[in-house]
Amino acid sequence: MTMVVPAAQECLSFDASPSVSACPVPQAPLANALDPKAIRTLFPIFAEKPDVVFFDNASTTQKPASVIRTIEEYYTKACSNTGRASYRMSSQTAGAIEASRQAVASLLSARAQDIVFTGGATDSLNTVALSWGLANLNDGDEIMLCMQDHKSAVLPWINLKGILSSFGRQIKIVPFEIHDVGDYDLKTIRNGVSERTRLISMSHIHHVYGMDMEVPDIREIVGDNVLISLDASQSAGHIAIDLSQLPVDFVSLSGHKMFAGTGVGVLWVHPARQAELIATRVGGTGAFVSEPPTTSVSLQTLLEAGTPNIASILSMKPAVEFIEAVGIETIANRLSSLTLYLYEALKNLPGIDFGPGPGRCGCQGGYGIISFGIEGISVSDLGFMLDSEDILVRTGDHCIGKAGEQDQYVRVSMQVYNSEEEIDRLVETLEDSF
Ligand SMILES: Cc1ncc(COP(=O)(O)O)c(C=O)c1O
Repeated sequence: MTMVVPAAQECLSFDASPSVSACPVPQAPLANALDPKAIRTLFPIFAEKPDVVFFDNASTTQKPASVIRTIEEYYTKACSNTGRASYRMSSQTAGAIEASRQAVASLLSARAQDIVFTGGATDSLNTVALSWGLANLNDGDEIMLCMQDHKSAVLPWINLKGILSSFGRQIKIVPFEIHDVGDYDLKTIRNGVSERTRLISMSHIHHVYGMDMEVPDIREIVGDNVLISLDASQSAGHIAIDLSQLPVDFVSLSGHKMFAGTGVGVLWVHPARQAELIATRVGGTGAFVSEPPTTSVSLQTLLEAGTPNIASILSMKPAVEFIEAVGIETIANRLSSLTLYLYEALKNLPGIDFGPGPGRCGCQGGYGIISFGIEGISVSDLGFMLDSEDILVRTGDHCIGKAGEQDQYVRVSMQVYNSEEEIDRLVETLEDSF
């Protein structure tokens, strides 16, 4: 593939993106939040590529102009490091980072001091395994996880098991399963939990099956002594999350899946767990290490080492403002009705083979994700065919912990800028392929 690299002048000019400056900034509440055409006017990419149907939102969302503008303005007008200098521009950057933290905290009904910025959900989930797991797991302790969850929620624990083993500590990974309809098989959790279970790693909404994995049920089964590490990558910014009520210990999420820039994520740590963590990366002015180790420092001092991805952290604030302007309930309802519409549109296609999730469970709605195959056509052929019509879906590796049957599905994942007309276009294109 040949990449067209724009000339340096074009890259650097602040005026190089007329569609960015032309896009309005959303005001809360947005008057026409249910109208995808109105929402699309806030996203410069749709002015550049009006014919593209973007159905790969579980992988990353498109960015509203307010997010792009914030990133551009940081680099063009305010580029400075944070926490390292006494001049005003640097203090302003530090203040803007705290404003972003506060915005994320409000979205999640959390306290800003319980939130750290990371490099993404993968980074957050690895931090839980290393910062908590290294310090707290003993010989014979058990971690429960589901091999059909995202690799980022699975592999950090398998990696930790290897690390601990090389230092003579043996922990056990106890797997649990997913039902054919796409939610967790609670029986396998009930059977797997033991007196040695220390933590269960789970998804909030599954990234391929698109089901709510029922935190309250899992908490009831495992009891109060087992920690829950929740991967909220597909739920944050999609449904209302109230961390003052959700019975979990760690929450990991990804900024770029909720309209912010790439390379930023969030880790929320329950206040009761914070004293159990150790620093796993130290250096810069952020992180702290001492001999002997002490945990009497803030979560940010402990876990935010080095220069962070400042531009993307700053973009979290306009991303949250966009979500609030549309309304989190409106987003959740819209994703649910789009899921239902997609299911109804797909279900009569000859050879349709729904994967686990809304296609199989008979749910009246969902969270914007449906995975399916079509008998007699390979998923890669489906992917190429849809791409040739500018309909972008996920095929191939779905990043589940255990590679296998899930790769036989095409995943459609939607957002508030998607429309019923786009779903009709997808289905018509599939029909034409028979
Ligand atoms: C459920 C889930 N967890 C974790 C990740 C990893 O997120 P990030 O790209 O921010 O590391 C993804 C991304 O695809 C995901 O869908």
